[in-house]
Parts: sequence; C-alpha cells; structure tokens
Amino acid sequence: MFTRTFSVTLLASVVALLSACNNDTKKPGYEYMPDMYRSPSYETNSPNPVFKNGMTSQKPVAGTIPVGYVHYPYPNTPEGYETASREWIMPATLNTPENLTEGKRLYEAYCSHCHGLTGQADGGVITRGFPPPPSYTTGKSSRGGDMKDLTDGKIYHTIQYGLNLMGSHASQLTVDERWRIIMYVHELQKAGQPAEATADSTGTKSEAPKSDKKM
Ligand code: HEC
Repeated sequence: MFTRTFSVTLLASVVALLSACNNDTKKPGYEYMPDMYRSPSYETNSPNPVFKNGMTSQKPVAGTIPVGYVHYPYPNTPEGYETASREWIMPATLNTPENLTEGKRLYEAYCSHCHGLTGQADGGVITRGFPPPPSYTTGKSSRGGDMKDLTDGKIYHTIQYGLNLMGSHASQLTVDERWRIIMYVHELQKAGQPAEATADSTGTKSEAPKSDKKM
C-alpha cells in the first residue's frame, strides 16, 4: 500500500515537473503559484485604470510638505533680506560646542573652496581665478554694511538664495546644517577683530584699530 501511494506521488511529481518545462525562455511555463511570478499590484510607473489620470504614481496633494520641512518666509528681495536679519534667528538650543565643530566641518566642505578656511576669500577656486567674495572680517557686503556684522538672518538668506556669483546652497544643506555653518561663520567674523582676538595673557592688546575702516 505504502509503495503504491509513493509511486503515484512520484509519478505525479515527475509529470508536474516536466510540464513546467518549456522551450520558451521568456515564459515561466506552468505556474504552480502564479502570484509568486506576477504581483497583482500595479508597478509604480505602470498605467492605471483606477485613477482618472491613468497613472499609478499620484502627485502629493497640493500644499503637502515633507516631514521636518521648515518654510523660509522671506522673499529674495532687499526687504526680505532686512526682515530676515531682524526676525530669522538661530534657535538657542543649537548653540553647543558639538554643533560648532560640525559647522566647521560643513563650512570646510561647502564654503571654504571660495571663502577660504579662515574666511579670507582665498579658497582653491579663488586662487585659480574666480572673483573673490569679500573677506568675513575686513570686507564689505555688496548689499551694504560690513561682512563682520552679518547677522544670522543675512547669512541664512544668502545660503537660501545665493547672491550674484554665489549660487544657492538650499538644496545641499538642511536647515540645521545651515545653522551650524552660520555659527562657524560667526567665529570667522570674530577672529578678525584684532582687539579681542590678539589679547595675550598679560592683557596687552595689539595695535590694530578697533573700528575697521579698510575696504
Ligand atoms: C562659488 C564660490 C562660493 C561658494 C561655494 C560660497 N560662496 Fe558665499 N559668496 C561668494 C561670492 C562671490 C560672494 C559675494 C557675492 C556678492 O556680493 O556679489 C559671496 C558672499 C557671501 C556672503 C555675504 C552675503 C551678503 O549679504 O553680502 C555670505 C554670508 C556667504 N557668501 C556665505 C557663504 C556660505 C555660508 C557658503 C557655504 C554654504 C558660501 N558662501 C559658499 C562665493 C561663494
């Protein structure tokens, strides 16, 4: 009895196996469980009769924003720049030594090839002939004022929109990364103020004038 059942099962298996064979290499032959070969769901880019516009991949609802997205409300105008300067201020919680170190790393990766490692506009791109930006310490902004006085909002505005020869860096940097870079730019701005930066242990200050009238 056992041998008989066994033979029948074996025969059935061999038949099933052979009938699955097929000379056409493009077809799977007998599909034992078709769903394993073909998913009943629509492929992302395939046509779709269910939706009115015939597409499987639907656009997000108007006004949808990604998780964590921060809307920058100031337009790329002189007024937008000035309003941002007054209102767009770095969240105090970000002000940590770790974030400053991260800001330095990001600045070196995204800004130093033009602005230079110390903010003196001597990055590799500039030494090869690209018109230099103003120095962060002694330069004047083309929008008026000294570079060393640029506020959080003014630097953020520049990262967001770019300025003349400097392109926007909005697509490369998250909001938090921008704030970290801004923290570091503020360090570079300070480093050039001789009265504070060169005070030695005896309290002697350098001869350099306090108000910077250069450029
Ligand atoms: C391709 C070279 C280049 C790169 C990269 C670059 N900048 Fe600039 N940046 C410039 C130039 C050139 C100017 C001067 C634009 C002008 O005033 O016409 C400038 C100006 C600025 C100013 C002054 C804006 C003002 O209000 O006057 C700030 C702040 C600034 N850059 C920050 C940054 C930061 C932060 C980064 C990195 C995220 C960066 N830049 C990357 C070339 C660059």
